[in-house]
Amino acid sequence: MPLTTGMEILSAARAGGYGVGAFNTSNLEITQAILAAAEETRSPVLVAVSEGGLSYGGKPLIDLVLGMARDATVPVCLHLDHGSSFERCIEAIRLGFTSVMIDKSHADEDENVAETKRVVDAAHAAGVSVEAEIGRLGGVEEHVVVAEEDAILTKPDEAERFMDATGADYLAVAIGTSHGANKGTGRPYIDHGRIEEIAARVSKPLVMHGASGVPTELVERLNAAGGRLDGASGIHEDDVRSAVARGIAKINTDTDLRLAFTASLRESLARTPKEFDPRKLLGPARAEMRTVIEGRMRLFGCAGKA
Ligand code: G3H
Ligand code: 13P
Ligand code: ZN
Repeated sequence: MPLTTGMEILSAARAGGYGVGAFNTSNLEITQAILAAAEETRSPVLVAVSEGGLSYGGKPLIDLVLGMARDATVPVCLHLDHGSSFERCIEAIRLGFTSVMIDKSHADEDENVAETKRVVDAAHAAGVSVEAEIGRLGGVEEHVVVAEEDAILTKPDEAERFMDATGADYLAVAIGTSHGANKGTGRPYIDHGRIEEIAARVSKPLVMHGASGVPTELVERLNAAGGRLDGASGIHEDDVRSAVARGIAKINTDTDLRLAFTASLRESLARTPKEFDPRKLLGPARAEMRTVIEGRMRLFGCAGKA
């Protein structure tokens, strides 16, 4: 089926009270895992490519994703994750993306509004949906490290003003999550009251970045197979459920796929020292990612919604 816009998928999710996953890809195997999981669980899905992913895979990666998405029997949106400028968003739209994120959350509010509005006008003219962000997450974002103390939680009144001024379709909010595999000590605190207050003022879909669960089992396997990941922590499943119940409609996951991929790959390499067929090493990693994604889809509540 033809690609779907982000807004088509996410407005149904917000109205229906469920979340939809946006999963980052940068190669064939990750894309296959995402789409196979979506088919298996009958879930709508956003396949996300970051600017780093775009630089890594270029147009061939995007053509590959587009070709595979067109063969899908569930709604699929191709989404630019953390677009840093108007120019990068336009590049993505020209390549065939059906959703772009303009992330000017590190700039001041005026610049964020102006640049977001510029992207919204161009994207909407091309029938493409737009995600914007206000507030600032901690963690690693596009290779920029944001210290926890520099993170700024989204203010509900600013969020309302920002969405009215820009006309963006969905809003990424900072509510306690952060990017990467180290989201804080113990169970990271998620400000559910804040989500509720934002949702009361913004009727459009809300987006949770940095939502990976960072499963202990995967971290232990990764480390047992020669990896070294210290102090790992992720978002508790109950916090994800609760966030969805309060208005989060798009949930971003990248780290969990990276962990599944790398744990599996390290194990395969250690277990089969004589193996040098890449398919024998990457195939199990693809299967592990698919299992993780299917679990995420069931957790978000989008399984069976396609
Ligand atoms: O939000 C960040 C995503 O995990 C993408 O990360 O910029 O390393 O591709 P990346
Ligand atoms: P994680 O690092 O928690 O997977 O978050 C990914 C993300 O927000 C991509 O935009
Ligand atoms: Zn993100």
